[in-house]
Amino acid sequence: MIPISKPLIGEEEKAAVIAVLESGQLAQGPRVEEFEEKFAALCGVKHAVATSSGTTALLAALLAHRIGFGDEVITTAFTFIASANSILFTGARPVFVDIDETSYNIDPNLIEEKITQRTKAILPVHLYGNPCDMQSIMDTAARRDLVVIEDACQAHAASIDGKRVGSFGTGCFSFYPSKNMTTGEGGMLTTDDDGIAEQARLIRHHGQSQLYHHESPGYNFRMTEMQAALGLVQLQKLPEWTRRRIENARYLDERLGNVITPRVGDGCVHVYHQYTIRVSADRDEALQRLANAGIGARVYYPVPIHQQPFYRELGFNDSLPVSERISQEVLSIPVHPGLSRAELDEIVREVSKL
Ligand SMILES: Cc1ncc(COP(=O)(O)O)c(C=O)c1O
Repeated sequence: MIPISKPLIGEEEKAAVIAVLESGQLAQGPRVEEFEEKFAALCGVKHAVATSSGTTALLAALLAHRIGFGDEVITTAFTFIASANSILFTGARPVFVDIDETSYNIDPNLIEEKITQRTKAILPVHLYGNPCDMQSIMDTAARRDLVVIEDACQAHAASIDGKRVGSFGTGCFSFYPSKNMTTGEGGMLTTDDDGIAEQARLIRHHGQSQLYHHESPGYNFRMTEMQAALGLVQLQKLPEWTRRRIENARYLDERLGNVITPRVGDGCVHVYHQYTIRVSADRDEALQRLANAGIGARVYYPVPIHQQPFYRELGFNDSLPVSERISQEVLSIPVHPGLSRAELDEIVREVSKL
């Protein structure tokens, strides 16, 4: 089976983790700090705050911006559940806006009509590694005095006109094993704002300013030294892996000529966390046929969040026709940097038969 994703762990990663284990410093320490500095440099921001996951990076970002009970946060329903669950966990309410039919990212033209007096933030998701229309989102946010928190969990090193995602608003990244780089589990918050960085650091560590002095509410969202050691090695490899993801996507584009893929905006660098196509015929059958042929295809995401049972119970009954339709039609095929030319050719051969 050609897997949909494959963490690439080499000898350097193994040596780096063993060195941490031998050092005796396992919890957050100097390697986390170094990883933060290097990740901030990658994103072109002043601060990066490492966390235990992408989900806790999102939660820390929302809390650092003082979002909580009674507030509303505008986001998309066509994403991984964490984008909305993190909002719910602050006590705020996610307000779903439909997606653009061509990019599958939040439709910036539909945001304004969902803004109320309770709206505090917009939380766009750079789905599959393809940047959202940040110009339009930032303009709306500035006009309506809203915070922007970017869910860049799938979009390491993606950019718009040379500016990295995660540097427009407060950025949140994930290092889950399927992501473009991994720390096993892990996350990162990025910001240029000194105050938000300070708040996020407090929230991550029980609001502790000095040892056993707690000045604000907080929790344990810390990253370990083992994770940071892995991340430091992976970060060095990210440019080459990103280049290969883009090259693999071009290879598929050229040979699968007739498939529909998400539109990439002008000036945007899509980093192909996923290579996603739309299938007009029966999607379940297409998935089965690919599985039988040894191609690990997956659907991201089959049920938009407002239609998840738990959200239904909470009273979400939006009509988001584009999200609902696209979720029935998409299918992602392997594009990761571990693919050989022979595997790419096999993927092309099988997908062309659908
Ligand atoms: C769009 C999106 N948001 C949030 C997350 C949450 O990240 P994590 O799994 O690291 O908590 C993920 C990844 O799983 C994701 O893909």
